[in-house]
Amino acid sequence: MAGYYKEHLSGTRLEHVYDLASPRVQQYLGAELEHVVKAVQGKGRIIEFGCGYGRALKEIASHVDRAVGCDNASMSLRHARAFLRGESNCDLARMDASRTGFSDDSFDAVICIQNGISAFGLPAEVLLTEAIRVAKPEALILFSSYSPEFWGPRLEWFRDQARAGLVGEIDEERTTPGTIVCKDGFRSSTVTGDEFSNVFFRLGQHAQIVEVDRSSVFAQVVKRV
Ligand SMILES: C[S@@+](CC[C@H](N)C(=O)[O-])C[C@H]1O[C@@H](n2cnc3c(N)ncnc32)[C@H](O)[C@@H]1O
Repeated sequence: MAGYYKEHLSGTRLEHVYDLASPRVQQYLGAELEHVVKAVQGKGRIIEFGCGYGRALKEIASHVDRAVGCDNASMSLRHARAFLRGESNCDLARMDASRTGFSDDSFDAVICIQNGISAFGLPAEVLLTEAIRVAKPEALILFSSYSPEFWGPRLEWFRDQARAGLVGEIDEERTTPGTIVCKDGFRSSTVTGDEFSNVFFRLGQHAQIVEVDRSSVFAQVVKRV
């Protein structure tokens, strides 16, 4: 699964995924972004782990001083450069979000949304550890995954992506509520609120869990040192 986005779902193909969103999926994406914008409003320097082609950064940029997007897919970053041309306070970096190369205590907010934590194909601890490391003391760390209540629309969205040839055919036998498995090796799982809480707790942080629009689940942490 690691590397799947870089090889199969980057640049215009990633944008096509979002173009296929049904009205209910568009509502989910809109509500998720609205929640993020409210949370980061007025912050100084923020970073998005796994920014893709800049879909979220475009909405967020005007609400913060400086927005950095990092992704390991060069096709997505190339597309993001064009997509974000009008946003003078955005920087893009090709980096593995599990070891970004930014100094400790660099950002006023670290976000990773739209179930990015699953897309990375890495143990949650690894990503959350890096998020905590690059966040300043008292900075906001915001991760989101899917609500279990959103399983039906989410599965339909992936069926549409499979029909459009963006991901492989859905493996119906191995797909179970919360986890979509495709026959080409693609896998999209979910991190529950409890799982987020437990991992953050092991890393010395307290996560507040918030469900939005019965579609996304956010883990929100104010970094304590
Ligand atoms: C589900 S997409 C979300 C894109 C974007 N956050 C959005 O909401 O539009 C996940 C993104 O994570 C990126 N990604 C996957 N593994 C990564 C890694 N190790 N480091 C940085 N980015 C990664 C993928 O290339 C992809 O752009």
